[in-house]
Amino acid sequence: MAQLWGGRFTKETDQMVYDFNASITFDKTLFHQDVEGSIAHVTMLAKQGILTDTERDEIIKGLTGIREDVDAGNLMIDTKYEDIHSFVEANLIDRIGDVGKKLHTGRSRNDQVALDMRLYTRQQVVETDALLKDLLQVLLDVMENNLETYMPGFTHLQKAQPTTLAHHYGAYFEMFKRDRQRLSDIYDRMNYCPLGAGAFAGTTYPLDRDYTAKLLGFEGPTMNSMDSVADRDYLIEFLSALSMIMMHLSRFSEEIIIWNSNEYQFVEIDDAYSTGSSIMPQKKNPDIAELVRGKTGRVYGALMSLLTTMKGLPLAYNKDMQEDKEVAFDAMNTVKDCLMLFTGMVSTMKFRMDRMQKSAMNGFTNATDAADYLVNKGVPFRDAHGIIGRLVLYCIDKETSIDALSLEELQTISDKFESDIYDAVSLKTCVEKRLTVGAPGPEVMKAVIAVNKTYLAQEDLQSK
Ligand code: ARG
Repeated sequence: MAQLWGGRFTKETDQMVYDFNASITFDKTLFHQDVEGSIAHVTMLAKQGILTDTERDEIIKGLTGIREDVDAGNLMIDTKYEDIHSFVEANLIDRIGDVGKKLHTGRSRNDQVALDMRLYTRQQVVETDALLKDLLQVLLDVMENNLETYMPGFTHLQKAQPTTLAHHYGAYFEMFKRDRQRLSDIYDRMNYCPLGAGAFAGTTYPLDRDYTAKLLGFEGPTMNSMDSVADRDYLIEFLSALSMIMMHLSRFSEEIIIWNSNEYQFVEIDDAYSTGSSIMPQKKNPDIAELVRGKTGRVYGALMSLLTTMKGLPLAYNKDMQEDKEVAFDAMNTVKDCLMLFTGMVSTMKFRMDRMQKSAMNGFTNATDAADYLVNKGVPFRDAHGIIGRLVLYCIDKETSIDALSLEELQTISDKFESDIYDAVSLKTCVEKRLTVGAPGPEVMKAVIAVNKTYLAQEDLQSK
């Protein structure tokens, strides 16, 4: 057992209590943030005359030495310590002696862990954003190359109207773009430094919180020291944004699984992103897409877990908050892995354009356009809808499609049909004429792609 607080105790902590209470097995993830925060803290203490410059230099030298040794694998993070903060402090004192004991002046583990977690989360926000950007780039490439790759669009998973692959991918582009906007908002809102809040009531030392905030790349210090140590809103917001990303990835995965099925064959997932069966030699399974869909559950779980942990906590710090870490780390890693693998899978997937086009050509995806044709010939839309409904029924009965009927046959249903009907309901026309903003018509899609190209060229969180 190695703890920072033995003074007022007369007995050793029970071993099970110690283990239950300890967090080092998972908060060792915060090692780099802990060292970085401590360096900023002592730099400020010296600037304020609370430490001498020599003391500061000795402590910083000790801290950077610990960091180098851990990074080089010469020093293991020993789980006999209660938490990562104790590990760093104890090692510092071992290394530089009594001056190391001054590190924690004017600081509590409450503001320390609040800072570490915030620094770590901020970095995760940036990394997640960069991975989303990679995915968006892949989607945009597919969009550019498939302005005229026709496919059926679905409602209720029933063929509805024709669209293009560019348009379909464009829908996901918008979702992941919003996901990035959410991350950017979270970044701006969370980018305030809790260091200097102490246990919860600040301190009597003349700390310069603006200075440490600046050293650590924050917009400024947080404004209420009680809130500073008790706030995990930013983490909940991030888990919520991560959940939303997973929800989008999961929907996309579901479609890819369907598209990759033998019945659809719209896409073929690359061998490198597929797996086989131990018994059925013919199988090539979309496991990556299924796992991404499946892992959505654990990310939602992390969000629910932290929301629930926080809901009954009186101010300020409570040990319950230690429970933020494992679930949050797991969710952050899961989402990054999913994004990386998903982007790889999508960028290597082959599209079966022939199958998509063929599928769009049957199933009456042009029925709306046939009705619109009659409207253009002066038939009120509701009547046109009824006429085309009867026409579809007729075609189903004859096992044929609207455009395969002769003009005579069409005219038995409505005398408004003329020879220009065939062009009006061709796949090309159906798509090309859809020129409202956001529609699949290649001309409007080109404009959307141009907007999105400019968007991707903008500076991102990484450059903040
Ligand atoms: N391991 C703790 C956590 O993650 C660090 C803060 C401990 N503070 C305290 N007063 N026990 O929340």
